[in-house]
Amino acid sequence: MTSTTTTGPGGRPDTHEEPGAPSDDVGPGSGTGDRFDRDDLPTAPGATRALLFSLLRAHRARVLVAALLLLVQQAAVQAGPLLVAYAIDRGVPAFRDADHGPLIAVAVGYALCSAAAGGMQYAFIAVSARINQDVLLDLRGRIFRHAQALSVDFHERYTSGRLISRSTTDVESLRELLSEGLQELITVILSFLSISLMLLWLDPGLGAAAVLSFVPLYLLVRLYQRRAGVLYAARSTAIAAVIVKFAESMNGIRPVQAFRRERVNDAHFEKLNHAHRWANGSATLEMARYVVGSRLVANTAVAGIVLWGAYRVASGTLALGVLAAAVLYLRRLYDPIDRLGMFLNSYQSAAASLGKIAGLLAQTPSVPETADPKELPALPGEHPGREVVFDSVRFAYRTGGEVLPRFDLTIPAGRTVAVVGSTGAGKSTLAKLLARFYDPSEGRVLLDGTDLRDLAVPELRRGVVMVTQEAFLFSGTVAENIAIGRPDATREEIEQAARAIGAHEFIAGLPEGYDTDVRKRGGRISAGQRQLVAFARALLANPSVLILDEATSSLDIPGERAVQRAMDTVLHGRTAVVIAHRLSTVEIADRVLVMEHGRIVEDGTPSELIGGTGRFAGLHRAWRESLT
Ligand SMILES: Nc1ncnc2c1ncn2[C@@H]1O[C@H](COP(=O)(O)OP(=O)(O)OP(=O)(O)O)[C@@H](O)[C@H]1O
Ligand SMILES: [Mg+2]
Repeated sequence: MTSTTTTGPGGRPDTHEEPGAPSDDVGPGSGTGDRFDRDDLPTAPGATRALLFSLLRAHRARVLVAALLLLVQQAAVQAGPLLVAYAIDRGVPAFRDADHGPLIAVAVGYALCSAAAGGMQYAFIAVSARINQDVLLDLRGRIFRHAQALSVDFHERYTSGRLISRSTTDVESLRELLSEGLQELITVILSFLSISLMLLWLDPGLGAAAVLSFVPLYLLVRLYQRRAGVLYAARSTAIAAVIVKFAESMNGIRPVQAFRRERVNDAHFEKLNHAHRWANGSATLEMARYVVGSRLVANTAVAGIVLWGAYRVASGTLALGVLAAAVLYLRRLYDPIDRLGMFLNSYQSAAASLGKIAGLLAQTPSVPETADPKELPALPGEHPGREVVFDSVRFAYRTGGEVLPRFDLTIPAGRTVAVVGSTGAGKSTLAKLLARFYDPSEGRVLLDGTDLRDLAVPELRRGVVMVTQEAFLFSGTVAENIAIGRPDATREEIEQAARAIGAHEFIAGLPEGYDTDVRKRGGRISAGQRQLVAFARALLANPSVLILDEATSSLDIPGERAVQRAMDTVLHGRTAVVIAHRLSTVEIADRVLVMEHGRIVEDGTPSELIGGTGRFAGLHRAWRESLT
């Protein structure tokens, strides 16, 4: 009845090139989110179906029970017209002969069938609702786990708004399919089958005529499916674009208001909103065309069959009861066609959505965890530091030119290296390669001689910790935020870390001290304070390699000084990479690297470089002059 084509033409659910489909390229002035919708993730042919089956497989037994319940329910429902035919052709004549038995039997049978149908329906809804909820639970969990496991470069391309759309609207359309659509489909198929058989059995001629009328209906269904598939994929893309724009504008509400972007944003949002409405409207119209077309076919068929049947009753070749039953069956036969439309509707919508989810789930981390992890050598004695080597590393972002052309660097265990250089020189890129947010395009990054790619991810995360400018805080208390560095840390250890970094005073001054919720009123803390919390977190983690990328940039001079004093103890014995624009931060380093265009252009101790004539000396002189 329904084809199993799950995606649009060509096996791709993404139909941006389709004529008439709204483009999600919303033109100039659009935010960064829009670029990505144009190259939505590809889905392998059959991936959508495979996903649906893998979701249902875990509930095989219950799916079977649900199908059996529906089968019995259908049998009970379809017995009705047969009983009517029996009543007319047998019961009534017998009644005239004062034999009440057959009519009473029909009445009792009818009541029993109705009761059975109702009971089965109830049981079916109860069973299928549980399947649905479990499937959706499973799917949302899968999306979250999978998205979280994907590498940073994926998230730079695929916005959080689109992820939200996948786990809300797209999951919702699967819910509609499961809770309404599938029942419709099974009911429709069962009733088509059972009614056709009944009709053929009652009267082969009438039955054959009814079965023949399925041919144009089938063609209609195929046509609808093909056209609606395109429209629903476009609709899913359109709603994702709306959500992306919404999320982006609200996330960036400060710059939006600071730069008076509201009107531009309004116009842009309106455009996306309209595109979504347009997509919705076209899908509905397509559905309407299908419903009208199918009714036309159905009514023509019923009229033809009834005329022919009446002629045969008049000429005495057909019993009146049989014609009555046939008419009742025919009505039931074509009734579900509208419902089939509903099913196709939710099916197309869910197929488009599932296609997008399948595309997401098919993504593999670009920084995969090794199947055969190597152990790092045990640390000798007191020294927590490890040697870091960049061995002929080349690196380019997926969406840009080469950032590191060929990079070699050795940092002996326990040393502190400062990296300075102009904006865009590649300092943060260096840090991210060392923390393995990305893998080099060529060459290796080694930690105590072991390629980062050969380390188990937990060991790497323990070994290398990066503190950045953003200093992200999770919802929860200040203490919890620090404890992320080491979840089993005691309150004393948390406080110790905070004291070491000079964060204890401000934390103690918060309304509830360490138990202040950072997302609640009173817990709003400044950018510099956030950095201090992030610092304490990194300290508590006690890594072998600590990377500080502009980690003190939001602190005032006294705050930075306090952190610097703390760093003398904190960094002791540890390997550290300190990236900073403020040259005061650099003085604690054993060695300073000056980076330009992804290359090291100067390398030496702070005093060597300050005493020399290179870039760093110039920068340092300018900096000293600015202080006086
Ligand atoms: N996620 C990314 N995708 C594509 N290109 C990127 C990405 N991040 C950085 N780049 C590019 O890589 C180059 C180096 O960036 P990087 O962030 O390493 O510079 P930086 O030295 O840390 O600069 P800053 O001092 O401003 O922090 C820049 O030209 C930048 O445009
Ligand atoms: Mg940077």
